[in-house]
Amino acid sequence: MRVLLTGANGQLGRHLEPRLGGMGELVTSSRNTGAYPCDLTDPDALQRLLREVQPDIVVNPAAWTGVDAAEDQVDAARMLNHWLPGQLAQWCLGHGAVLVHYSTDYVFSGSPGRAWTEEDATAPVSVYGQTKLAGENAIRASGARAIILRTAWLYSSLPGNFLSAIIGRAARGEDLRVVSDQIGSPTWAGSLAQMTKAVLQSGTMTASSRTLHAVSRGRLSWYEFAQTAVTMALERGLVEQPVAIEPIASSEWPQRAERPRWSVLDPSALETLVGHPVPTIEQALSQCLNEWKSRTC
Ligand SMILES: NC(=O)c1ccc[n+]([C@@H]2O[C@H](COP(=O)([O-])OP(=O)(O)OC[C@H]3O[C@@H](n4cnc5c(N)ncnc54)[C@H](OP(=O)(O)O)[C@@H]3O)[C@@H](O)[C@H]2O)c1
Repeated sequence: MRVLLTGANGQLGRHLEPRLGGMGELVTSSRNTGAYPCDLTDPDALQRLLREVQPDIVVNPAAWTGVDAAEDQVDAARMLNHWLPGQLAQWCLGHGAVLVHYSTDYVFSGSPGRAWTEEDATAPVSVYGQTKLAGENAIRASGARAIILRTAWLYSSLPGNFLSAIIGRAARGEDLRVVSDQIGSPTWAGSLAQMTKAVLQSGTMTASSRTLHAVSRGRLSWYEFAQTAVTMALERGLVEQPVAIEPIASSEWPQRAERPRWSVLDPSALETLVGHPVPTIEQALSQCLNEWKSRTC
């Protein structure tokens, strides 16, 4: 079995690569590097990649992930988040392959008074959320065998995400101001990679497509997440001195794109499918920071 992993240099891609290795022959593709470099928005290059690799499974974490930048670069976001998954799904349909794709909590807005389930109505408030939802719909409309994993607030020890930014600033002794009126399901990229493998191993690939919420169990505001992360980082010596963490309203931290205030996803359907619970936010954060610590020792 041959597995094609796109976006192999991205945050999730770098956590998927070691975990998907045992599933068969793993072929990785990045924009500019490796054996199969490919600009996935180039139609000819994309078809060439698929023709050469002939994957049985395509795992696609590649995306336009700049939430604020998407507001101004709509066409570029649409190519990666809408056109690309549609193309991958069409190829999978025509070649009997399976597509694993990632979507986002930003397809929702408002608050149902509980965690969002897969059956809840979507209502994205940003261009990013709209293009990701359009990608989901293109996959569903294709009839391809596909798993769409909606995740949220993805973090890791790699540069360029909320956790590494917070820990980096706290380690430099800088006090923090963090938004406390957005509540979500922070999810470690390592946990999501593990969930991806468990879903693939569950043998569920007979249905045409299935959408699952793939997040850590629990809910925190960005402020509470920062507090928890800095406390755990202090315990591990990744941060040497406590820093002040001030809760602020979203209005005090203006951003180009609107974010949902309630981003909590319910992972129950995924847990039922794979037959075991997903990690809690605290368990996953602890594991991430332990791995971070072991690399810096
Ligand atoms: N990050 C979050 O908080 C979050 C939350 C919810 C859902 N998600 C979803 O989770 C998935 C993974 O996110 P992530 O955090 O791992 O994103 P990421 O770190 O930004 O990785 C995205 C990858 O896509 C690649 N890419 C972008 N444009 C490309 C192009 N034209 N050709 C080839 N590759 C291209 C990037 O390549 P380069 O390395 O060359 O730029 C990068 O490796 C995405 O579907 C995202 O929408 C993320």
